[in-house]
Amino acid sequence: MSSPVWHPFTQHGLGEPIPLIARAEGAFLYGADGGRTIDAISSWWVTTHGHCHPRIMAAIAEQAQKLDQLIFAGWTHEPAETLAAGLRAIMPEALTRVFFSDSGSTSVEVALKMALGFWAGRNEPRHRIVVMEHSYHGDTIGAMSVGARGVFNRAYEPLLFDVETVPFPAAGAEQAAFDALDRACRADAAAFIVEPLVLGAGGMLMYPPAVLAEMRAICARHGVLFIADEVMTAWGRTGTLLACEQAGVVPDILCLSKGLTGGALPLAVTMASEPVFAAHYSDDRARMFFHSSSYTANPIACAAANANLAIWREEPVPERIAALAARQAARISGLAGVGNARTCGTIAACDLAGAEGYLSDVAPRLMALAREAGVLLRPLGDTVYVMPPYCIDEPALDAVYAVIAEAVGG
Ligand SMILES: Cc1ncc(COP(=O)(O)O)c(C=O)c1O
Repeated sequence: MSSPVWHPFTQHGLGEPIPLIARAEGAFLYGADGGRTIDAISSWWVTTHGHCHPRIMAAIAEQAQKLDQLIFAGWTHEPAETLAAGLRAIMPEALTRVFFSDSGSTSVEVALKMALGFWAGRNEPRHRIVVMEHSYHGDTIGAMSVGARGVFNRAYEPLLFDVETVPFPAAGAEQAAFDALDRACRADAAAFIVEPLVLGAGGMLMYPPAVLAEMRAICARHGVLFIADEVMTAWGRTGTLLACEQAGVVPDILCLSKGLTGGALPLAVTMASEPVFAAHYSDDRARMFFHSSSYTANPIACAAANANLAIWREEPVPERIAALAARQAARISGLAGVGNARTCGTIAACDLAGAEGYLSDVAPRLMALAREAGVLLRPLGDTVYVMPPYCIDEPALDAVYAVIAEAVGG
């Protein structure tokens, strides 16, 4: 019998090969057969400093000898306390509270529940969530509800809650997005959730910081909570620690995951401003924040995140990011035969002519070609993107772009 493993976002009926990886280092994955693959998408956008970063691996090994897991409701441990303090020190000052969970999707669920709890706590119940067209916030029911509808969630649509969608602020059409957001805010929205600067799974769609700043200002004007989903964009991906930074935007609620542990272990946090926390603060148990999961703030994952923060504090991470951003920009703009070549920090993307939609067969063909050439790429329909770990070297980046050039040429 073939493997019993049921893979995510995989159509097993197509019989596509599923490579077996045995170890990883830096920007490289090594197969059980010794073959080397360049991880050009940071294993789904999580690996920032490189696979098996020695400092992160050492922190995990050390913590694993001390405390593996602890119930986090009403108990605490040093790795979580250190991490919360570390996040407070580098994230916007107004985000005073740190709530732990395990994945990007759960950090979004937590953010949505915090927003509704905020309004309930003020005895002014508001339920309407405003979202941006083409967004992706995860695959749990709440996260899907605030994301774009399509083939991914058609079967589950009856369970998804209604949201107000503002158009994507494409160049020249920004005002329509602002007007729609303004209208939604006037109609007593509870919160606006947005991926700052880059809509990842929606096709690496990019918009400028000034647009983000204006959307934040509209929400502030109407007292609507602004939720920044930086699950993909944080930890330097867009060139700065947070994408919001480039717009001078401080959200009311911030979702972080993926690169929080440098990409080594699953962990997420939802950071909240003091008014959001205060709306839940009371001597009435019925008003506490009703959310948890078994592995909330797992100590080993927190230790990995603390090592990530130490790397940010002590190593020239911003310089590495700036250098990779420049290399990415030079390469993507040099690709012939592609449309809409674009970058935002370390993320480079372009569109392939002749392909349409997420299920177009250009994506699997390019993936197969790349796999043969020892490169891990996973196009989003007709959009090819490169989002490598920051340590990727020149020959490896050359190899990635050579595959894309070959695919375009073919
Ligand atoms: C912006 C954004 N939010 C949320 C998620 C969901 O994160 P996870 O897959 O860890 O649940 C993703 C995943 O790609 C994402 O890009």
